[in-house]
Amino acid sequence: MTSTGRAMDECLLDVGSTAQLSREHGTPLGVANARIALFRVGGRVVAVEDACLHCSSPLSDGRLEGAIVACARCGWAYDLDAGSVMRLPALRLNAFPVRVERTRILLEWTPPPT
Ligand code: FES
Repeated sequence: MTSTGRAMDECLLDVGSTAQLSREHGTPLGVANARIALFRVGGRVVAVEDACLHCSSPLSDGRLEGAIVACARCGWAYDLDAGSVMRLPALRLNAFPVRVERTRILLEWTPPPT
């Protein structure tokens, strides 16, 4: 960890502008070999893995209502604030820290161990 509390191999990636985000669906993003979905939740941006825990369909294709996204394939609903499946709260998506500076979306990315 550095004095800022971030791991040495962690980096901050500028992954786009908030103006590019839909209010109805997610925005898919590829970082290294990871599939990430960005969602606009109120005035925040949330980043989670872009793979439904049921059958890996892209959650970015799902319909967003508030902080809830429903998978487009067979409807599992996720609470993006908790990162969990609504009916099975013990199942959680991997989430990625995001911050917004002005309109830029900055993803805190830690490469997976090799
Ligand atoms: S693949 Fe998402 S609910 Fe089935």
